[in-house]
Amino acid sequence: MNILVIGSGGREHAIIRALKKSPKCEKIYALPGNGGIADDAECVNIAATDLDGIVEFAKTHPIDFAAVIPDDPLALGLADRLRDIGIPSFGPSKKAAVIESSKAFSKDLMKKYGIPTAKYESFTDCDTALAYLKTQTLPIVIKADGLALGKGVIIAETLAQAEQTVRDMMLEAKFGKSGECVVIEEFLTGPEVSVLAFTDGKTIVPMPASMDHKRAGDGDVGLNTGGMGAVAPNPYYDESKQLRAMEEIILPTIAAMNEENRKFKGCLYFGLMLTEEGPKVIEYNCRFGDPETQAVLPLLKSDLLEIMLAVEQERLSDMDIEFSKDACCCLVLASGGYPEKYEKGKQISLNDFPENIFVFHAGTKKKGTELVTNGGRVLGITAVRKTLAEAVSACYEAAEHVEFDGKYYRKDIGSRALSINA
Ligand code: AMP
Ligand code: GLY
Repeated sequence: MNILVIGSGGREHAIIRALKKSPKCEKIYALPGNGGIADDAECVNIAATDLDGIVEFAKTHPIDFAAVIPDDPLALGLADRLRDIGIPSFGPSKKAAVIESSKAFSKDLMKKYGIPTAKYESFTDCDTALAYLKTQTLPIVIKADGLALGKGVIIAETLAQAEQTVRDMMLEAKFGKSGECVVIEEFLTGPEVSVLAFTDGKTIVPMPASMDHKRAGDGDVGLNTGGMGAVAPNPYYDESKQLRAMEEIILPTIAAMNEENRKFKGCLYFGLMLTEEGPKVIEYNCRFGDPETQAVLPLLKSDLLEIMLAVEQERLSDMDIEFSKDACCCLVLASGGYPEKYEKGKQISLNDFPENIFVFHAGTKKKGTELVTNGGRVLGITAVRKTLAEAVSACYEAAEHVEFDGKYYRKDIGSRALSINA
């Protein structure tokens, strides 16, 4: 089969590597791909958000199946457009992708169906939002309604900071249109868990849970990023929590989306917080997470292409999906300055790089024969080992063998997971 994969991050690289293992996979086109994906697929320079360009490409090439991976094209309805021209696709419809593209929608869905989440209110008027803030306790969480690359969430410690954030979002459009509506919600505490699940709208199969590291700095300080590293499985999400989340969150979410006539087919991401009152939803994403996917798919033993086909054809219940019991760590190497200003175009070298480690490319591109940086998150260094401790140390050892100007990474990926019994 000839497969089209939309996207260009480390997550897409991990997906393409998994798809390539399928005996059914003949050729992969990546739109637009990146410097590392170019070794595994044919990269075509069409942006993931150029829907007309992608549809035109799909019409004029022998494509048998498409996988739409990032949030933006899903929110714009790319999976629908591809299905409309007869190309079976992995990824939710625009109607279902709203579970991520509008936080106000997802919060209202949870309220309506009794799915546990932080208490909240949403606002489209700045004065009303400012007045509400005065009635709340601190810290308080302020979220831009729309997509903001994981950066539209501010945890305010003081009222002044909260008020400033609301003004920045609603009056100064710091997050563009995404901030025209804000959600203000209660601050929750507890370990976070990312659960990625395959679903065809009838059956849902969670993958091993993972733990992201969203803040830029060691010890979970600094700005929120797209994710600085991930480990799987997540030891905080034990069997009893898994059962509870399945019963109170995962199955009810699928039922709620069906009830709303927004059947979700694809990978649904549950960002959970394990609070003292039980697991609660922090966010839904309508897609594979990044870097979580880089830490989860290397554990998949089954054929990813077969799973994606089964999702699209709504026969996921027939599939036997198997994951390895090993542990996996993905360490993100970023450009200094990320998630704020950073430079691009720095030459990357991998000297004496150890074997048995995956290097998933995110912000890289080929410049002649050289590989250069081309984004905030540059590489995902990923190791699968018998234990998490071994996987983590293998990643840190390997990271020493990568050089580029401004290379930055967190030094504590996995430490919270490893400290569970400490
Ligand atoms: P989101 O984009 O909604 O996942 O938020 C990004 C990150 O902000 C989450 O992964 C949490 O670490 C943090 N966060 C979001 N909402 C809350 C909340 N209600 N309480 C505490 N932390 C939160
Ligand atoms: N790592 C979080 C996300 O993909 O949204």
